[in-house]
Order: sequence, then C-alpha cells, then structure tokens
Amino acid sequence: MVQLALGLLAISTLAALLALLLEAAHAVLADYGECRISINEGQKELTVQGGGKLLGTLMDQGIFIPSACGGRGSCGLCKVKVLEGGGPILPTETPYMDEKEIAEQVRLSCQVRVRNDLAIHIPEEFFLIKEYAAVVVGLRPLTPNIKEVHLKLVDPPEITFKPGQFIQFQVPAYPGCPEPIYRAYSIASPAGLKNEIKLVITRVERGLATTYIHTMLKEGDPVRVNGPYGDFYLRHSEREMVLIATGSGLAPLMSILHQMADEKINRRATLYFGVRCKADLFYQEEIQALAERIPGLSYIPVLSAPAPEDAWEGETGYVTDAVARQIEDASNMEAYLCGNPLMINAAVEILVSKGLPEDRIFYDKFA
Ligand SMILES: Cc1cc2nc3c(=O)[nH]c(=O)nc-3n(C[C@H](O)[C@H](O)[C@H](O)COP(=O)(O)OP(=O)(O)OC[C@H]3O[C@@H](n4cnc5c(N)ncnc54)[C@H](O)[C@@H]3O)c2cc1C
Ligand code: FES
Repeated sequence: MVQLALGLLAISTLAALLALLLEAAHAVLADYGECRISINEGQKELTVQGGGKLLGTLMDQGIFIPSACGGRGSCGLCKVKVLEGGGPILPTETPYMDEKEIAEQVRLSCQVRVRNDLAIHIPEEFFLIKEYAAVVVGLRPLTPNIKEVHLKLVDPPEITFKPGQFIQFQVPAYPGCPEPIYRAYSIASPAGLKNEIKLVITRVERGLATTYIHTMLKEGDPVRVNGPYGDFYLRHSEREMVLIATGSGLAPLMSILHQMADEKINRRATLYFGVRCKADLFYQEEIQALAERIPGLSYIPVLSAPAPEDAWEGETGYVTDAVARQIEDASNMEAYLCGNPLMINAAVEILVSKGLPEDRIFYDKFA
C-alpha cells in the first residue's frame, strides 16, 4: 500500500516537473512573432505578440473575459468562441464544455495559446468590463482570519455593478509569488457607492493572494481590480428568499441586502449565516441595521463549534442542518447561496428535497 502511494507520488511529481520543463522550454524556445486577433467578424482587430494565453493576451489589450480562478483552468468561466486558429480542444477544457459548446467552437481562453492568427467571438457585454486603478483606504479585521478591504476607485473613478457580482483583484509579484496573479472577490458594499468598494477576504493558509492581502497590503497602497463579473444577483420576483452564507460568503449577500433596503424591496427573506464560533461572526450591527430597513428580513446565525465562553443559545451545527430544521416547504422560495462549495452542494440538495426547483437556486462557490 505504502509502495503504491509512493509510486503514485513519484509519477505525479514527475508529471508536474515535465509540465514545468515544457512551459520553461516553451518560454525560451518558442517565438510566434506577431499574431492578429480578429474579434466579432472584424469589429475589432488586434496585433499582439504571440506565445501567451488568449485570456492574458486579451487582458493586456484591455479586453476582460470573466475568470474566477486567475487562469488556472479550474473555474470554467473564461469561455469564448475561437472560430479560426485555435487548434484542437484540450483535455483541460473538455470537463467544462457540453456537446453544443464543443460544436460551436467554444474554448477556455486561459487554455488556448496564441500561436497564429485567430478569429474569435465574444459577447458584446464583455467590452463593458473595465480595469480600475484604486487605492486602499481601509483595512479592518472583521474576525481573526477575515479582513475587510476598502478601496477607493481612482481611474476610472466609478464602477457600475449588480449587487452580488465580483471583481478580480490583482496581486503584484512578491517573494514567493513570481508574477502578478488575479483572484475573484465579491463586492460587499452597496452598488450606490460607485466610487468605492468593500471586499471581505478570508486568509487561506499558504494562499498566494490572501497571504499578500493579510500580511503585506497597507492603507494607501495602489491596487488594480477589473470587473464586474458574474450572474449571482437578485432576481426580480415576489418570492420568499432564503439566503445562506458561510464565512466571507456573506459578502455578496450584504450587497444584495443593501440593494433590498435601498430599493425598498420588502420580500420575506431569511439570512442563515454559518461560522464556527461567536468570534467568527461579523457585520452583526450592519445586519441588524439592514433588518430595521427590510421589515421582511429574519436573521439566523448558526455556530458549528461554539466555544464554552460563547454561552450560545442560538442555532448550532452546520448551517445546512439549521436550514433543514427550519424550512418545511421550499417550493415557492428562491435561494441565494454563497461560500464554501461543500456547503453549497449540501444546501442545494436540502432545498431541492424540500421542493425548490434547481433553476431558482443561485450561488457563487468560493473555489
Ligand atoms: C466567484 C468567486 C468569488 C469569490 N469571492 C470571495 C470573497 O468575497 N472572499 C474570499 O475570501 N474569497 C473569495 N473567493 C475565493 C478567492 O477567489 C480565492 O480563491 C481565495 O482567496 C484563495 O486565494 P489564494 O491565492 O490565497 O489561495 P491559492 O494560492 O489560490 O490556494 C492555496 C491553496 O489553498 C486552497 N484553497 C483555496 N481557497 C481556499 C479556501 N477558501 N479554503 C480552503 N482552501 C482553499 C487551494 O486549493 C490551494 O491548495 C471567491 C471565489 C470565486 C470563484
Ligand atoms: S480562467 Fe478559470 S478556467 Fe479559465
């Protein structure tokens, strides 16, 4: 058994080394010269240096394709049609494609390398996505491992987004992170505050972006973000809402609740917020203030491991256990879920078992 595990480890290490060597050889040896990219039947023509991935090449030209994984091939969001010059679809792309998309030549732009002239098609709305120069005007610890990052937009000075959407934050190169990387963060602040955005960021052990944000980012630092992205936003209906968050997954739900308060959307809604113990709860006063402005809103915090000193008398267990206990019939509801992917999978299963059709469950997995 041990020998088998060691063998597998050796094979995967060799494969990773080979992939690194190929990338390095590619960087040194390959010279694709200048390539032309024709977008939307010639509506836009770009001349670019070949060799880079299509996603990054377009970004360098100010064209931003949705991405939540920073180009690592794990979110499946960066789809564009590559009509000419893209070569065969790669095994890293097929898990994210259905048959129709493959037939329509849809590709993951973070996987396609620009080696020759390309003809591509992208939805018109992608041209509206912008890059923003911003400055950090506040850094506030919300819990021992969650920080609020408050940004003021400088150029352009205003952003228009739908509450619930996210931006990509550029982390510059630093020792341990050899090149700039992008990570997705949901906007927690109200959409009416066009000149500033607040992000709520959990520190991930050995995480490249979050280590930088939690230990190196300072007030006054210039940063770059691009967006907005995503289809996690409030749908217009009269249905009762169930909102479920774990940890920093509360961020986009706060923005949606601000929207409900500002636009006087008084639907019945219950916010379930799951964390480990009392010290992990945050935005409690803000939620209270929102509940006063949204009369139909109820709030249920759920602690999975309350500390003895918490003297907690509220809901306990996983947040999904509380949802299962509290909701009998979800058939007329609409659900908005955000946070840990495991929680979201469990919540979807519970809500569907309570009669909620899947097409009325909206979520963002922080993966
Ligand atoms: C649409 C979307 C919106 C998001 N919004 C937010 C947000 O508002 N706030 C927020 O804090 N995060 C959010 N995320 C997650 C965020 O984009 C990063 O993935 C996260 O901050 C980790 O980045 P990192 O560079 O520090 O870690 P990485 O260097 O990317 O990862 C380091 C290691 O940690 C693992 N890992 C990554 N993320 C987690 C995690 N959350 N828990 C445990 N292990 C992890 C990875 O698998 C890897 O092994 C969002 C993600 C998506 C897709
Ligand atoms: S950017 Fe995430 S899969 Fe391409």
